[in-house]
Amino acid sequence: MQFGSLQLESNLFLSPLAGYTNLPFRLVLREVGGLGLTTTDLVNARSLLERNPKALKLIETNEADSPLAVQLFGAVPEEMRDASQYLESIGIHSIDINMGCPVRKVCKTGGGSAMMTELDKTAHLVKMMVDSVSIPITAKMRLGWDDNNITAPNLVRVLEDVGVRAVFIHGRTREQGFTGTVNLTGIREVAEAAREIPVIGNGDVTTPESARHMIEATGCDGVSVGRGAFYNPWIFRHTDHFLKTGELLPEPAFAERVRVMRRHFDLMLEVFGEQRGCLMFRKVAPWYAKRFGPVKPFNKRVVQISTRDDFESTLADYLGWREQFVDADGELIERYRQGPMVPTFMQEDDEPAAAKRQVIPVPKGPVEVW
Ligand SMILES: Cc1cc2nc3c(=O)[nH]c(=O)nc-3n(C[C@H](O)[C@H](O)[C@H](O)COP(=O)(O)O)c2cc1C
Repeated sequence: MQFGSLQLESNLFLSPLAGYTNLPFRLVLREVGGLGLTTTDLVNARSLLERNPKALKLIETNEADSPLAVQLFGAVPEEMRDASQYLESIGIHSIDINMGCPVRKVCKTGGGSAMMTELDKTAHLVKMMVDSVSIPITAKMRLGWDDNNITAPNLVRVLEDVGVRAVFIHGRTREQGFTGTVNLTGIREVAEAAREIPVIGNGDVTTPESARHMIEATGCDGVSVGRGAFYNPWIFRHTDHFLKTGELLPEPAFAERVRVMRRHFDLMLEVFGEQRGCLMFRKVAPWYAKRFGPVKPFNKRVVQISTRDDFESTLADYLGWREQFVDADGELIERYRQGPMVPTFMQEDDEPAAAKRQVIPVPKGPVEVW
């Protein structure tokens, strides 16, 4: 996989998840393996130019965190250009543009000609960025506003013409938010619209099989995973292996899940300090715990931790309590085990209702800009 001159080791990507895709999480995922490129949360271009401390924290990185893309958000071409130059000057490898939905204003005013104006404006902004740096510029978008306004295929062609090096496409419309099923046909239309640049499919991928299905059904060149990486930090390693060999690696053992969670916790404290790190880890730990089996007492306490000691005692008490549910090898007794979550686009029509209810939760946030 190649983005312009940037060579990537796999065709698997971490999607930006505002509030989550910080340095500790990216490092944990890289250590587990399989990733081609990670990205930061979206960062406001103007805040970056103002050297706003919060924006600078969002782009905090180190040598192990490579290659890295920063996702920029902004509508003023000069600001997007200057922010791009700044990012290139500090060694960032790629810049992704958060495109949200290109036709929002069009839908509000309802005019087709307005849509072209909007596309022209977008093209102008992107071209200024592309012309000002030598690192690749990519774009991330949804299919369009709603099912009647699938604009992404058009937009991809426009973007390719002005020099965008790859496109990430979340297979839902803005109207859908995070509901309904990812539209693989829509992703395929975008993949077909691109002439040469890679198109990366995105949405609901939680297993190696679903990643392969997305690639096969849409012809996309790679897959980007967001929430599925929280649910299963091994997804990139296992998917990369599966795509290359057709072999499914075994699910990580409980001890390995705890090891990786602990590593994540340590990195959080290293990067954000004990107080803030603990506060942030309150929303991270329950994701790891989703595959621990019976977990109520752990979740109840881990969302209240304020110190390293709080975390350690919460975990130690939980490990003791959990003993009652495990066999001699330390693995969960069969009836407490939970299989991987199957995305709706992989579920059969006659799937039992309980399986269909399995959906990856969407944390609260400003969905309108994702
Ligand atoms: C909590 C959260 C934060 C997100 N933040 C961003 C963001 O900063 N930029 C962006 O382009 N998309 C953002 N998204 C959308 C994801 O990148 C991704 O497109 C979407 O979650 C679908 O992929 P998934 O099903 O693999 O999570 C966010 C999604 C979630 C759930």
